[in-house]
Amino acid sequence: MIKFTDDYSSRVDGASALRARLSSDILVPSENIPYTVAIGGGKGGVGKSFIASQTGLQFARTGRKTILLDFDFGGANLHSYFRTSDNTASLDPSTLAGKDFDLSQWISKTEHPHLDIVYGSRLFAGAAIKPQMFDKLLTAVLALGRLGYENVVMDLGAGTSKHTLDAFWLAHRSVVVVLPEPTSIENAYQFLRAVFSTAIQIAGKKECSPAVANELQSWFGSSLSKGMSPIKDFFADVEQLYPRFYKSLYSIVSSKRVGFIVNQTRNAEEKNTACAMTQIVKDYFGFNTCSFGTLCHDESVWKAMRSRKELNACFPQSRVMSDFKNFSKKLIIESSEGGLNAE
Ligand SMILES: Nc1ncnc2c1ncn2[C@@H]1O[C@H](COP(=O)(O)OP(=O)(O)OP(=O)(O)O)[C@@H](O)[C@H]1O
Ligand SMILES: [Mg+2]
Repeated sequence: MIKFTDDYSSRVDGASALRARLSSDILVPSENIPYTVAIGGGKGGVGKSFIASQTGLQFARTGRKTILLDFDFGGANLHSYFRTSDNTASLDPSTLAGKDFDLSQWISKTEHPHLDIVYGSRLFAGAAIKPQMFDKLLTAVLALGRLGYENVVMDLGAGTSKHTLDAFWLAHRSVVVVLPEPTSIENAYQFLRAVFSTAIQIAGKKECSPAVANELQSWFGSSLSKGMSPIKDFFADVEQLYPRFYKSLYSIVSSKRVGFIVNQTRNAEEKNTACAMTQIVKDYFGFNTCSFGTLCHDESVWKAMRSRKELNACFPQSRVMSDFKNFSKKLIIESSEGGLNAE
């Protein structure tokens, strides 16, 4: 019944595929949709911002017009990887208002060709973000193609806030960053559980059945508390009870592309972490997954960051840079397989 494949080189979702798996509150343009990557993971300090900044740089180096978005509201730190001035524009999502907006007023240039950025506001102190405004913000992300952007990279916050999960869902490819240690891996699973629960809520909206969604969400939660059971068992029960809902949920979940990257590895054994995780996540949450491999622990990362210089410019021969090129190559292939107007 269920077939999940590793698919980083398959075609990227176009407009109708995105519409099929996103809440209808997010408007998907019919053309010029930028290839969008979200860098997330449950835990703070695992290297999300470092990986997001490098991913943006690698896309830009291929000549694609690229934009980095600091969507770590409350903990924005993407600016640490770039030179900024005091009057650089930054986005505070709690101040968003109005019917429609685009992101142009918050876009800053970086010192790197083809790479722009939207910094997160350091003034944002966890104020409420209106849900409709966040949907409009995500709509504005997909509309960045109108400003000529081909690639978007979102740096997400730690934890499982609704905004982080919604942005994770939006992306064509969502990357979970983990450290090769039990707490970080456990956090990544918890994060993906929350991602799955978001899928149930999206299906609830699509099927106009919020009550069924709530029932299934607590059912899924309670089945997990008895120990993880394979997702095919959960799907089989849902199919029997709510066949329409099942169809919608199954198609949403199986269309989501998740990838893992293990950061700061120190030995060969730790390198197997990502492959092991892809299998578990396929079996227990049903997402299409792939391993993006590993990035070794390397002092050159913080040395470059401290001097606010780009890693490749300071340490082009470093081991982490070579690991990074392997990782980004896969994303670049995926981007060019789909890219703008993929359908
Ligand atoms: N491969 C690596 N080798 C050595 N140091 C690294 C590596 N990756 C990241 N770091 C360092 O780890 C620290 C945390 O990285 P980063 O700020 O990117 O994490 P984060 O996941 O974005 O954290 P937060 O959730 O707090 O935003 C930084 O000082 C960074 O330089
Ligand atoms: Mg960060």
